[in-house]
Amino acid sequence: MSVFPRSGVFKIGKCFQQYSARSIASLSSLPETHQMLQKTCRDFAEGELKPIAAKLDKEHLYPKKQIKMMGDLGLMAIDVPEELGGTGLDYLAYSIAMEEISRGCASAGVIMSVNNSLYLGPVAKFGNKEQKEKFVRPFTNGDRVGCFALSEPGNGSDAGAASTMAIKKGQEWKLDGTKSWITNGYESEASVVFATTDKSKKHKGISAFIVPKPIKGLSLGKKEDKLGIRASSTCNLIFEDCLIPEENLLGEPGMGFKIAMMTLDAGRIGIASQALGIAQASLDCAIDYASKRIAFGAPILKLQSIQQKLADMALRIESARLLTWRAAVLKDKKEPFTKAAAMAKLAASEAATFASHQCIQVLGGMGYVSDMPAERHYRDARITEIYEGTSEIQRLVIAANLAKEYGV
Ligand code: CAA
Repeated sequence: MSVFPRSGVFKIGKCFQQYSARSIASLSSLPETHQMLQKTCRDFAEGELKPIAAKLDKEHLYPKKQIKMMGDLGLMAIDVPEELGGTGLDYLAYSIAMEEISRGCASAGVIMSVNNSLYLGPVAKFGNKEQKEKFVRPFTNGDRVGCFALSEPGNGSDAGAASTMAIKKGQEWKLDGTKSWITNGYESEASVVFATTDKSKKHKGISAFIVPKPIKGLSLGKKEDKLGIRASSTCNLIFEDCLIPEENLLGEPGMGFKIAMMTLDAGRIGIASQALGIAQASLDCAIDYASKRIAFGAPILKLQSIQQKLADMALRIESARLLTWRAAVLKDKKEPFTKAAAMAKLAASEAATFASHQCIQVLGGMGYVSDMPAERHYRDARITEIYEGTSEIQRLVIAANLAKEYGV
C-alpha cells in the first residue's frame, strides 16, 4: 500500500499552495516521510473531502467512495504491519494524517480513526495468526471498516460496569446485551465487542470478542441523529442469543478491560488529532474571512480585537499539537503514554471547542449560517470532548497517573 499520490488522485488547490510554505517551514523537524504524508493527506482533503463535507453533513451521507480512496492511499491501516496488508508507518504518521483528513472532513476523520485505532489496533495487537488473517487484512484497504463496542446504555464513563454477557455454550459464545454509541455501527463488517464472562470478577471478568457482521442474533438500533460528525453512523448493537465461534475470543478470558483501556489510550491520540484538524480548519476559516471582510474601512484582520482571537486560537492549537505528537512519539518509542494521550485529547478537544467558537465570533452572523463551514466545525468539535473518554475522564486519568508518579 502506498501513502504517496497516484497520478490523477490529487488536485492541488489554491488553498494548499497558500498553506504549504508556512507549514513545511514550521514542521521542518518532521521526518521527510511524515512531511510527504502530510502533503498527500492535505492534497486529498482539499481536493476530495473539503468540497463535499457540507453536503455529507447536511444529508447524513456516509462517504463510501472517499473512504475507499483513503484505503487506497494506505490511510485506513496506517500502523498495521505491511505483512498484514497495512501501511507499516508509526503513530506520529497516523496523528499527522488524521489531522489533515479531519481538517477537510471531521466525519471522514472519525471513520478512519475508529477503523485504525479502535478496531484494527486491538485485533492486530492481541489477535492470533488466524484472527489477524481473517479480521485485519480485509479491513486495511477501505473496502471494509470495523467498529468497537464498549459503551452500553447503562455505562459509558464507568467502562468496567459492562452488563452485556457472554456465556460459553459448547464450541460457541452466546452474547446478550446492548452496546451503544457505536461509531461505524451501520457500515462495519466486524466489531470488537466487550462482554462479561464472569460477573463475580467485576472488570477482571470482562472479555473481548471479534464479532463478524452481519450475524444471526445481532441487530442494529436506529441511526442516531447527531449534532455533528453527521456523515458517520452511530447506533446501538443489540445482541440477542448471538452465537459466535469460540475462536473469536480476543486475547485471554478476563483480559477485556485491559484490552479496552490500552486500545483507548491509542484511540485518544487519534481523537486528539481529529480535534486538531477541526481546530485548524476553524482557524483557516477565521483568517480567510477576516482578511476579506471590510469593516471600519479595512479588513477586520487589522482590528486588535480580531487579532487577539486569532492569536489565542493559534496558541491553543499549536500547544495541543505538540502534546499530541509527544503522545504519539512516546507510543512509537514503546514508552508509557497513557497520561500523555489523555493530556493530548483533553488539550486538543478543548482547543477545537475554543477555536470553533471563536471562529463563529470572527465571522459574526456569517458564522451562524450553513453557507460557511464555521457552524459545522463548532458542531463537529463538541463530540471530541465526549467520545473515547470525556474531558472529565481525561482529567481523572491524568490525576491518577500523577498520583503514581508522586507515589501517593
Ligand atoms: N492501560 C492498561 N491497564 C489499565 C489502564 C490503561 N490505560 N487503565 C486502567 N488499567 C487497569 C488498571 O491497572 C487496573 O488493573 P488491575 O485490576 O490489574 O489492577 C484495571 O485496569 C482497573 O483500573 P481502574 O481501577 O483505574 O479502573 P476504573 O474502573 O476506575 O476506570 C477509567 C478507569 C479511566 C474511568 C475507565 O473506566 C475509562 O477510561 N473510562 C472511559 C471509557 C471510555 O473512554 N469510553 C469511550 C467509549 S469508546 C467510544 O467512544 C467509541 C467510539 O465509537 C468513538
